[in-house]
Amino acid sequence: MLKHVRNNIYRLRWSRNYSILSPVTKSPFTVLGIETSCDDTGVAIVNSDRQIISEAIHLQQQLHEPYGGVVPNLAMSSHQQHLPLVIREALDKANMDIARDIDVVAVTRGPGLPACLGNGLSAGKALAAALRKPLIGVHHMEAHALTARLTQPTPVPFPFLTLLISGGHTLILVAHGVNHYTQLGTTVDDSIGEAYDKISRLLKLPWLKGRGGGPGAALERVAEKGDPKKYKVPIPMTKDKHRKEAMDLSFSGLKTSISTLIKNHDLDLDDEIVKRDLASVFQKTAITHLTDKLELAFRWCREKDIILTALVVSGGVASNKSIRSSLESLATERYNIPLICPPPHLCTDNGVMVAWAGVERFRIGLVDEYIIDHLPRWPITTLGS
Ligand code: KG4
Ligand code: ZN
Repeated sequence: MLKHVRNNIYRLRWSRNYSILSPVTKSPFTVLGIETSCDDTGVAIVNSDRQIISEAIHLQQQLHEPYGGVVPNLAMSSHQQHLPLVIREALDKANMDIARDIDVVAVTRGPGLPACLGNGLSAGKALAAALRKPLIGVHHMEAHALTARLTQPTPVPFPFLTLLISGGHTLILVAHGVNHYTQLGTTVDDSIGEAYDKISRLLKLPWLKGRGGGPGAALERVAEKGDPKKYKVPIPMTKDKHRKEAMDLSFSGLKTSISTLIKNHDLDLDDEIVKRDLASVFQKTAITHLTDKLELAFRWCREKDIILTALVVSGGVASNKSIRSSLESLATERYNIPLICPPPHLCTDNGVMVAWAGVERFRIGLVDEYIIDHLPRWPITTLGS
């Protein structure tokens, strides 16, 4: 018994040492990435030469659409059911043998839905431990941010300003390096993705199907044909000086403004033109709010003498074309730096971003223990501390 305990302690120490030393002995090295933080089961294989070797994804839209949003228990059991074969598919597409060809296993550790994270993390840990491969627990939002360094012809150099807009987060950060971020702003209530999803539900829009689909994408599609000036709603965080000068964001008031508008004008939500105009007014106001706050962030960086190389925008909502074009004008015309967004299918959750974050972290020796737990709430600013 005592011998057994000693052996375990030895293993633990070994893994702790390993996390510090982790020599990169092979070039290029290959990472298998697993993403299960929300509703899509994504797996991919990426190497340190910035090649996406294969990708597989199982979407859950059909499962959640009848409920109007992601149902955590259903999402969890779907990951449980599909993850093994999504892993298998990624390996088959790459024509790779996991024991022979994969050097590192990376898996989303947080933030996200607890049971969903637990599923992917258990699988990743079990694979890594059984195969004696290094394990990397990835921060989902860092993975969104770093994707831009994979998808450009040459990696975007640090430091860059990044706006991460997803279903769970709205973050304005300065990315100084891998594992090193300064948070300038975050939402004080709903995320922008939640706002898109809620307005989409309010307008009873059917979800767009397939990769890059869902309620937010449906709202974008309808908004394209509407008149953004048809109704006036207040731009969030502009009421008083303190809120106007803060780099934080807010989206719950905008949702309420749209609901109030519908009530006060007795608008008919079965009228397609009314829906288009409301969607368009919502989207225009949300974009104005984003650009207002990014302006402040640009100015903050200037005051601190941070020479930014780019504005990187990523996360599911960054697949939105209107948001991209407004932010492109802001970055290029006003601040003379490029706007860099991953292609839309790599803005929404996927395994590639996790595998690539694994590459970036492994390269600088950041490896985790096999005993790590999931972190459903995990501020990105705690990375590196
Ligand atoms: O990053 P992501 O795939 O998952 C999370 O990490 O949350 O982001 C999902 C969010 C959802 O709210 C979805 O409706 C929204 O991104 N989204 C969009 C678009 N595509 C996805 N919102 C606006 N326009 C889009 N084209
Ligand atoms: Zn995401």
